[in-house]
Amino acid sequence: MPDAPRADALVLFGGTGDLAQRMLFPSLYFLDTDGFLPEDFRIIATARAPLEQDAFTDLVRDAVAERTGQHGIDEEIWRRFAARLEYHAADATSPEGAKVLKTALGEAKRPLFYLALSPSLYGPVCAALAGAGVAGAESRIVLEKPIGRDLASSMSTNAAVGSVFSEDRIFRIDHYLGKETVQNLMALRFANTLFEPLWNNLTIDHVQITVAETEGVGERWPYYDEYGALRDMVQNHMLQLLCLVAMEPPADMEPASVRNEKVKVLRSLRRFTRIDAERNSVRGQYTQGVVEGRSVAGYETERGAPSGAETFVALRVDIDNWRWAGVPFFLRTGKRLPERRTQIAIQFKGVPHSVFGGSAKADLVANRLIIDLQPDEDIELLLMNKAPGLSREGMRLQPLPLSLSLLKAYAGPNARRRIAYERLLLDVIHGNSTLFVRRDEVEQAWAWIDGVAEAWRESGHTPRAYAAGSWGPAGAFALTERYGRAWNDD
Ligand code: BG6
Repeated sequence: MPDAPRADALVLFGGTGDLAQRMLFPSLYFLDTDGFLPEDFRIIATARAPLEQDAFTDLVRDAVAERTGQHGIDEEIWRRFAARLEYHAADATSPEGAKVLKTALGEAKRPLFYLALSPSLYGPVCAALAGAGVAGAESRIVLEKPIGRDLASSMSTNAAVGSVFSEDRIFRIDHYLGKETVQNLMALRFANTLFEPLWNNLTIDHVQITVAETEGVGERWPYYDEYGALRDMVQNHMLQLLCLVAMEPPADMEPASVRNEKVKVLRSLRRFTRIDAERNSVRGQYTQGVVEGRSVAGYETERGAPSGAETFVALRVDIDNWRWAGVPFFLRTGKRLPERRTQIAIQFKGVPHSVFGGSAKADLVANRLIIDLQPDEDIELLLMNKAPGLSREGMRLQPLPLSLSLLKAYAGPNARRRIAYERLLLDVIHGNSTLFVRRDEVEQAWAWIDGVAEAWRESGHTPRAYAAGSWGPAGAFALTERYGRAWNDD
């Protein structure tokens, strides 16, 4: 793809906020370290609070230091980076605020507006930018999730932004797509001949996608109470992972090619019914328990009142197309689970006939491909193997992993795990939207999620309690067992 013209300034709304401090400034610093920021690239941060330039620069330095850890900040790079930074207090939804930013932009021709703000402000900010005349044909906008709480609100936010920025200039972030291993999923599938012929319902028994977190909701409860895990995690990250596993090979890595294939998967998701709510879904909410040796409070204690929000979801999802007919996809995500783990497990079918008799027959285990995305980046293919040794009963078999540890393969003195936002910021600077979510994708995902929420509502499905530090409510185990499968909890 020919590079689109590169951006020459970033205007970061919510510049003193949590996302900016924890992720965006450190990512920009690392991009600068590796020489990826254009020489003339300026970073203009804005928020309502008045803040002296020096105080702002100190704030950013602390945020960067937090991330560089023991390696420390390289003073020469820091000087270059700090010279790019500017802070302007402004109410970005007002014409006056937009004018402040216009003045700050000065000669910059291709600004990149990054809205690390509450989505309720997306429309008003875009209108103010248009009013100030800074949302020209070469400008771009980056939006964080959640874009809406359901299909209707998502469509109205998309329409408000779309009335100012054309779709090719809108970059909707799902930070999972910036993770190295998530992109590696495409490499694994489409840069190897080995898997693709087997990647279908003839050979694959089922797929599991787990995104387990040990963190609780804590102070984010006002957001979580309104969204719950279904809207916070499944609508975006988990459906994106599912799309990457299930999509057809795209013609190439162009944005349109990849995103068309993902939309086809989303359109093939079987709509949930009331019966599915009972049979194929589990909602949970954590109560007090112990996580990683620490006693932690339950969600309702954190929130200070009873709540109907789920902090755990498990679903059986069916994809109604030729490739995946009859292959269940089990999805599970939750807060306050025993460990942090993001994993995709592809369970193959067993051999059609065992030539091994005696005890070896019982040893047979079907092949499994395990893709660990977090915290370790690992790909393991479980293969049957003859256990060494002699036995009068014949051979014994044993599954052994063929293992590709990305950490070891790419270890080195300068190896560093990149923040997902580094990749995404670099792509948006250069106008490459392959790893961003298109409007029809986000809306199709909401349409399906609305179906789940509606099925829950109609059937009066409420979250079941699970102790913090467990793998969710008992129903989550029953969900896979009902179909003769089990979660991969090794
Ligand atoms: C965010 C969710 O999008 O992703 C959070 O809002 C969640 O609730 C986070 O904790 C998980 O991201 P990661 O990169 O830590 O797996």
